[in-house]
Amino acid sequence: MFALLGKKILLGISGSIAAYKSPFLVRLLIKNGADVKVVLTPSALDFVTPTTLSALSKNPVNSSFTEIKDEEDNPEWNNHVELASWADFMVIAPATSNTISSMASARCDNLLLACYLSAKCPVFVAPSMDLDMYKHPGNQENLSKLKSFGNIILESEAGDLASGLIGKGRMMEPSNIIKYIIKNLKNEFPLKGKNILISAGPTYEKIDPVRFIGNFSSGKMGFSLAEAAANLGAKVTLISGPSSLKILNSSINLINVVSAHEMYNEILKFFFSVDIFISAAAVADFIPKDFYYSKIKKGQKLNKISLKENIDILHNLGKIKTNQYLLGFALETNDGYQNALDKLINKNLNAIFLNILNDKQNIFNSDYNQGKYITRKKSIPFELTTKLDLSYKIFEQIIIDL
Ligand code: CTP
Repeated sequence: MFALLGKKILLGISGSIAAYKSPFLVRLLIKNGADVKVVLTPSALDFVTPTTLSALSKNPVNSSFTEIKDEEDNPEWNNHVELASWADFMVIAPATSNTISSMASARCDNLLLACYLSAKCPVFVAPSMDLDMYKHPGNQENLSKLKSFGNIILESEAGDLASGLIGKGRMMEPSNIIKYIIKNLKNEFPLKGKNILISAGPTYEKIDPVRFIGNFSSGKMGFSLAEAAANLGAKVTLISGPSSLKILNSSINLINVVSAHEMYNEILKFFFSVDIFISAAAVADFIPKDFYYSKIKKGQKLNKISLKENIDILHNLGKIKTNQYLLGFALETNDGYQNALDKLINKNLNAIFLNILNDKQNIFNSDYNQGKYITRKKSIPFELTTKLDLSYKIFEQIIIDL
């Protein structure tokens, strides 16, 4: 009955004729137990009134960055960050072509967009437009972009359109929006409430101020895992060594580090409050014994650099873990299964993902990966697929094991 009991929902309404249905949506959300706040774009005001929406939601309704709230006509700021962080999730319905395009390109010229860009919660988007506009490659590309940010698209429905045309483009009916949200809250966000820490990328270990020992890791596997975890509803912190990659899901807390010791120190700040730690970083196994404080000159005729073993981050974490689920990666060229299993046991892990490096398959900097997910009880092979897809599959396994 109260499927959304206690859920805080920020409803964003943009200027489409379908906005006349938004009050129904507010009523249905409230009927299902949700607490609803509404923000409108200025053009939505032509289609629906704040008075109706605030009467139904029993909360103030905002459409601009500032408003007059006191008798002395002093403008007060509507804090979009506060609104966005208040919400458990945001629903943008109807979402016009204009609003979708702004969302895709991070334009921020109204309160709704500012809330959207600040939101770290899941966002549902219900497009509403005429059929040809909906089909236009520009809109389809923008919707794909929103999907890649982790937003959930509430597919437009087919039927009579305000223009008189018949086709796909209508905003999903409020009753269907509610059903979709309720059904998908569980399915789409199985990691909601989970804290996940992920390490990614290479580490660089300094020889002198301008040189380092590093490796070819691009960070793609760790970044993909972070995207997937955040899209599945988890609170994600990603600690990455030097990498040129960008995160798409803005809820991810990205921390950049350079060396293994810096990575370990950052990990320790979060480790004891997370449920899952995934070690996807390609940590350098060796570091120079001595650090040269000034640049080594050609004339110094340096012909060897002495190395010492680096800190094994995952091994240390395996020793101090309380109840964190630990997943490591094993990169092997031969005896893959046995080596991976040994690492799983030695590092006290719950699971390890085995990558086999061979001549045919270079995983470094590739968008694709394959391998085996190994625990003490099972070994599950994964075919070659994108690193993002593989990440979702890995989380399916972790969820079964948790
Ligand atoms: N790892 C780590 N710190 C290191 C080396 C590895 O935390 N100094 C982590 C990696 O992130 C990975 C796992 O340990 O999750 C296994 O890494 P891998 O390089 O396959 O194995 P190593 O332990 O380094 O052993 P070897 O290189 O001898 O195979």
